[in-house]
Amino acid sequence: MDQYAIHGGNPLVGEVEIGGAKNAALAILAASIMTDDPVIIENIPDVRDTKVLMQAMESIGVIIEHLDRHTVKINSRLINGYSIEKDYIKKIRASYYLIGALSGKYKQARVALPGGCNIGLRPIDQHIKGLKALGIDVTLDFGIIVTEAGQIKGSHVYLDVVSVGATINVMLAAVLAEGQTTLENAAKEPHVVDLANFLNSCGANIKGAGTDVIRIKGVSRLHGTEYAIIPDQIEAGTFMFAAAVTKGDITVKNVIPKHLESISAKLMEIGCEVSESDDAVRVVSAKPLRPSHVKTLPYPGFPTDMQPQIAVALALSEGSSIVTESIFENRFRYVDELVRMGANIKVEGNSAIINGIPKYMGASIQAPDLRAGAALVIAGLAAEGTTTVDDIRYIERGYEDFHLKLKLLGAQIERIETERDLQKFNLKTG
Ligand code: UD1
Repeated sequence: MDQYAIHGGNPLVGEVEIGGAKNAALAILAASIMTDDPVIIENIPDVRDTKVLMQAMESIGVIIEHLDRHTVKINSRLINGYSIEKDYIKKIRASYYLIGALSGKYKQARVALPGGCNIGLRPIDQHIKGLKALGIDVTLDFGIIVTEAGQIKGSHVYLDVVSVGATINVMLAAVLAEGQTTLENAAKEPHVVDLANFLNSCGANIKGAGTDVIRIKGVSRLHGTEYAIIPDQIEAGTFMFAAAVTKGDITVKNVIPKHLESISAKLMEIGCEVSESDDAVRVVSAKPLRPSHVKTLPYPGFPTDMQPQIAVALALSEGSSIVTESIFENRFRYVDELVRMGANIKVEGNSAIINGIPKYMGASIQAPDLRAGAALVIAGLAAEGTTTVDDIRYIERGYEDFHLKLKLLGAQIERIETERDLQKFNLKTG
């Protein structure tokens, strides 16, 4: 029954150390198999998604040595297969990066179609379009993506939709290609830039990452490197909203404030004080929260992965707000749960119309996906009474030690497994 039990009402106060970006780590781990030399990667978050990807890499002969909790040494010299079909790989979305990486280096791959969060249809047509443009033959074989290429040739690729995954997969497939690839309408997310920096540190020639045109000049080989993953923008943003919602004062440390600009701007707009230093951002929530309109957009717009967290805050604001989701079609599954906690939210199409309430009431709720799960935990922290959040395996896909970090900020939260644990928690928290 793994759940979080939360006794809400405490303002969260203090400092929290932000880990490495899950989504950058997934791309960079996959990319690391493209060199025969050892690669050392630091600041990998110890979360379920990175563990599953490393398990998949080990299944084809990649040797992964854990130097400490967040540092691995990867040796891919003895890869002995290109086929990753086991069921567990479907649990993570980013399994498809192995298609780009294996195809780019070994000219062949067989990878089970990805799963991941249940937030929408999540087609991969743009990935396939990009790979095909490079001369890679892509077919589907009963849920397995099969690629084969004689020679991979640089090309011109225009993405019809801005896709992080397709941008990363094309970069991976093009980095060892013959000639130059121009990728237009590319995603600009920080983890796209981080992957380009990692590959360049291995000898790749990638220019323009972070803009919407990326130019990749193929090189004949990649060499080893030592590289540290950027901090997780979404983990940081989640704690920033935890401050907003609990009337707290939280400093997120080890972050790149520039990556948090859209989040900081919205927090200020709804009445929080936000101050930045070189690698930290402090959020103080001392005034009543104000309503706002938000639309999720590709970077540098407001991230879809922060949409549930801001909705949790706006549901406590003094007035009416509209949250519009423009990236994924199924990202309001948490609304029913919030309504059970007393929120006044109506979903119409891809918008949530929110009328603020003074406070949430504790309830028994379920995490519908990774980010919504984290947002519901924050709602529980602001609620009166006890909240239990079920299905926390989703949250553990992307947040390392989430409840422990919250506890250090003064939250009353425990990870519980049995009814008895819940009784003990209730006795302790009164
Ligand atoms: C990545 C992130 C995820 C984040 C999302 C948007 C990882 C592992 N995951 O997901 O946390 O929420 O970016 O910032 O990094 N699309 C197509 N065809 C395609 C690919 C995408 O139509 O071939 C559409 C999607 O349905 C969606 C939009 O493009 O509407 C953006 O998706 P994309 O950027 O690809 O998301 P992911 O890479 O899957």
